[in-house]
Amino acid sequence: MRKIHIVTFGCQMNKLDSELAAEALADAGHTVVDREQDADTVVFNTCSVRDHAEQRVLSRLAQLRPRREADADFRLGIMGCFAERDGAELLQKLPYLDFALGTRQFPRLPEVLAGLDAGAPAEPRKKTRRQAGLFGAADADAPGIGNRHPRARHEGMQGFVSVMRGCDNRCSYCIVPDVRGGEISRAPAEIAAEVRSLALAGAREITLLGQNIDAYGKRDGSSLAALLRLIDREAPPETGLLRIRFVTSHPRDITRELVETVAALPRVCRHFHMPAQSGADPVLAAMRRGYTRADYDGKLAMIRDILPDADIASDFIVGFPGETEADYLATRALVAAADFQNSFIFKYSPRPGTPSAETMEDTVPPEEKKRRNNDLLAVQNGVSRRRGAAMPGKRVEVLVEGPSPRDPRRWTGRTAGNMICVFPEPPDGSDWAGKLVRCTVTSATPLALYCDAAPEAVG
Ligand code: SAH
Ligand code: SF4
Ligand code: F3S
Repeated sequence: MRKIHIVTFGCQMNKLDSELAAEALADAGHTVVDREQDADTVVFNTCSVRDHAEQRVLSRLAQLRPRREADADFRLGIMGCFAERDGAELLQKLPYLDFALGTRQFPRLPEVLAGLDAGAPAEPRKKTRRQAGLFGAADADAPGIGNRHPRARHEGMQGFVSVMRGCDNRCSYCIVPDVRGGEISRAPAEIAAEVRSLALAGAREITLLGQNIDAYGKRDGSSLAALLRLIDREAPPETGLLRIRFVTSHPRDITRELVETVAALPRVCRHFHMPAQSGADPVLAAMRRGYTRADYDGKLAMIRDILPDADIASDFIVGFPGETEADYLATRALVAAADFQNSFIFKYSPRPGTPSAETMEDTVPPEEKKRRNNDLLAVQNGVSRRRGAAMPGKRVEVLVEGPSPRDPRRWTGRTAGNMICVFPEPPDGSDWAGKLVRCTVTSATPLALYCDAAPEAVG
């Protein structure tokens, strides 16, 4: 049996897959360890969304090369999106790599490790790496794409549940549909049962995951709104579930019904991650996003009309092929006006095989991408500071996590908008972890809220 350390890159889907892979390994009798130095097997769960993400994995692999070469028992493997995109070639190029598993193949991790051990040839790399590397993995019938068995205990406050896999959109810059495959929605009853069992096992907050979660169930006449109502019924407060979140919203698919459902269900966080990508129509068209700036502004207004206090976050890509200064200024104006809680800003990175990489020239020079990136960040930081300045005196509801690692006399938790909140320790040594409390904000930074007075329990 092996001691395995998993390192996760990329988004929450990858984080969840790492968790599921760890469960599969534990079920097979392996031990999953927190520290690389305690492991005899290291697996990187990789991301391909930008070139930078791939380069980081490559450099971490290179760092482990000496260890792999010195120790015949040590195993080194990759899973996830980069493995799916380029696994076959990586196995060729990096002879010290033992295996590469595609995005829907991670449940086979125990089987692959057993195969490598059983082969145990004098030169394991050459003989087994071909048979261990499993590709073409985006097939629908690959095992276990998100289901997990009920467990008695859930680690930590937060649980993630995938409601769908893959993506059927074809945003022209995006590698995700290539590496994660087409969209598959899971059955509503199965999702609700998983949420319920996680709650009963100790999860207080569940995040539902999908690349374009607003498209959930569209094909079978269902919807995310209907799913939220079902979960609300099947995992009532008595199960211990206090909060439900969902990501990521697509501006084209988000509906009034969804937002009204969020408004009607108090445990669903008033928090939307609705990436705009650009504020300029010609760029949105070239990105094949399926909406215009006016459509996006309309969706923002719709959310704020129904839920004036909703926290809305966005993503932006700067320097997309053909993005002019005027286009960039339109994006800048959107960020200046939209009052986003947060904006994740990325420099365009051509991904091999995507429509934009194959058919459009990467026209914006790197230094100009950098300038636009920094400028847009500065605009968002201004917005965040302004939002922070309005916070003192406000009451926020916080799901308590526990004592701060830096100062045990201060405790931390998160607001419905996913802001960190720091407040004084409970007065009588009681344990508030996993409870909802109300705090009055004393001061705020773009990342965190600070409260000087003791919080009060909710309900
Ligand atoms: N499904 C989500 C996004 C997944 S990728 C959605 O549609 O909103 C996360 C973010 O990475 C995207 O929102 C986008 O801003 C960024 N991104 C994706 N491909 C990129 C590329 N080729 N270059 C730069 N940023 C990219
Ligand atoms: Fe990529 Fe677009 Fe799908 Fe998001 S919606 S994962 S950006 S193709
Ligand atoms: Fe990266 Fe794959 Fe997520 S490419 S962003 S880890 S879906």
